Amino acid sequence: MLLLNKTLLKLARGLWSDILAIAAVSFLALVGSTALSEIVAGFLGSLFAPADALSGAGDAFRAALLAAAATFAAQLLKGLLEYRTAARARTRMRQTIFSKVMALDAGGIEQIGPTAAITASVDAVEQMQSYYSIYLPSLFYSIAAPVYLFFRLKRISLPVAVLMLVVSLVLLPANNLFRRKIEQIRRRYWRALEDMTGYYLDSLRGLTTLKLFDRDREHSRVLGEKADILNRNINAFMKINFTSFLSTEALIYASICTALALCSARLHAAEAMPIAQALSVLMLSYSYFAAIRQLMSASHGALTAISAAGKVEEILDMDTSRPYDPGLPGDPAHFDGIHMAGVSYGYAGRARAISDISLDIPRGKTVALVGLSGCGKSTVASLLMRFCDPASGRLYLEGRDYQSLSPEEVRRHIALVPQQVGLFSGTIRDNLLLARPDATDAALLDALSEAGLLDFVRTLPDGLDAQVGNAGAALSGGQRQKMGIARALLSEAPYLIFDEATSSVDPQSEQEIWQTIARLSHSRTLVLISHRMSTIRHADCIYVLEKGAVAQRGSHEQLMAEDGLYRELVTRQQAMEEVSA
Ligand SMILES: Nc1ncnc2c1ncn2[C@@H]1O[C@H](COP(=O)(O)OP(=O)(O)OP(=O)(O)O)[C@@H](O)[C@H]1O
Ligand SMILES: [Mg+2]
Repeated sequence: MLLLNKTLLKLARGLWSDILAIAAVSFLALVGSTALSEIVAGFLGSLFAPADALSGAGDAFRAALLAAAATFAAQLLKGLLEYRTAARARTRMRQTIFSKVMALDAGGIEQIGPTAAITASVDAVEQMQSYYSIYLPSLFYSIAAPVYLFFRLKRISLPVAVLMLVVSLVLLPANNLFRRKIEQIRRRYWRALEDMTGYYLDSLRGLTTLKLFDRDREHSRVLGEKADILNRNINAFMKINFTSFLSTEALIYASICTALALCSARLHAAEAMPIAQALSVLMLSYSYFAAIRQLMSASHGALTAISAAGKVEEILDMDTSRPYDPGLPGDPAHFDGIHMAGVSYGYAGRARAISDISLDIPRGKTVALVGLSGCGKSTVASLLMRFCDPASGRLYLEGRDYQSLSPEEVRRHIALVPQQVGLFSGTIRDNLLLARPDATDAALLDALSEAGLLDFVRTLPDGLDAQVGNAGAALSGGQRQKMGIARALLSEAPYLIFDEATSSVDPQSEQEIWQTIARLSHSRTLVLISHRMSTIRHADCIYVLEKGAVAQRGSHEQLMAEDGLYRELVTRQQAMEEVSA
């Protein structure tokens, strides 16, 4: 009934002094306005005895001015405090959400969806901040205000004071009757907002593709429909809001009328009530309900905040911890390199991507993974990088169980050039320094040269300081891949994994990059994943994956001698190359 929410209260840490300060100044404003009402009522009442009114006018005027100034100052301060609290609440909540999202490991963001992560930290935070700047202060205030006013009114008329207190106590639960319905609509509103934002984001990202297939009008129509659904939900919300407003206002006015009727009766009674007191009752009744009205309107905001908090809770409650036990036993085989023993893994909601894979990556050697698209090569790379943990089986890095090392420790030993290189807005230098923050310009240029990107960088007027654009949009697909390779060269990790490192580059660059990789094989341990069979033929050991399992293993010569997928892939590719030559 008090709309206290666990997540919102947890996030309120550090904001309590602001919340209580707002409630305190609201109370001061109430004391000021009550005094003003009583002074004005007293003065108006005295008009019936003009002589008294004239002598008391000066005092009444000064007192009223003082009360009005104090009320005004308190209101001003309240506004300022609300503004400051809202700003602090926003910052704190965003920091908490951002640090949680950043703590998610690869794949984590897919579990919640990037759109949900964005709406949680933008819209949800906007909706939640009013809980701290408006709702919680109103809650404290609306407990104190009726009690204070009860004692002010009791002196004039006990029945009226009791009536007001009872009605103010009933109003809140009556208002809450609408809550369930409002919450339902809120949930529908959130789903509609997320659906529309997600579709909009997808359409923006894929605008080129949509134009390519002339589907942009279709997307714009669907977007219009989704906006309509959102609008309908907003309208439904406004309707129920209005109904709740109407019924509570009716109750308020009915009780004010009853209070007036009681006072009128007393005006004519034997023990007549002075007119000034009757006027006080009238004016204080309004103040009485102002506190409750404020809480009721704030509780609509609080409901919104609670449903938004539900979204944020899903993110904050995500388990970002990873299995970690430094005491785990080491590799029984004492393998010098990376040893994968009977590993299986499946993505959430999907069939197993790989099952019971065992493979050895000896230190200093080059190992290749080949197989048809979707056979699980990138999944093996993800496991080797500890982006995910196996469902069963174990991995060992130079004798130590992967789960006795933190993901960060694993990644200090192993670097990956992924299929899709991630670049950030900023300069070429910024993007390279990600791999080694203390690298000198000479080292950066060396890495670019090895990756075959130096000539391009030299043509840029800003050189290393040239901007790569949003997510590297100002670079071609091949240039982005070369940036990924340059990063891997800069990293000091002794193990390097290349996942289709040259799939987007021209034949000339491809040749250069493979020459670089060949040179690297003298100093580092390499895992090569490539569709181009000719590039991996010199690997010390080749694993052929088929439907998530190891189908064959051996050197190129050994595998060519076998009647299996490897020989089939090699001969098919040779035939294709001959046709296109
Ligand atoms: N994030 C994901 N969520 C769900 N399923 C996934 C995910 N990534 C990959 N898969 C599935 O796991 C299987 C193995 O995918 P993987 O990316 O490892 O294949 P691959 O051998 O690298 O293919 P390619 O040669 O096309 O890169 C595929 O069936 C794929 O659909
Ligand atoms: Mg892949």
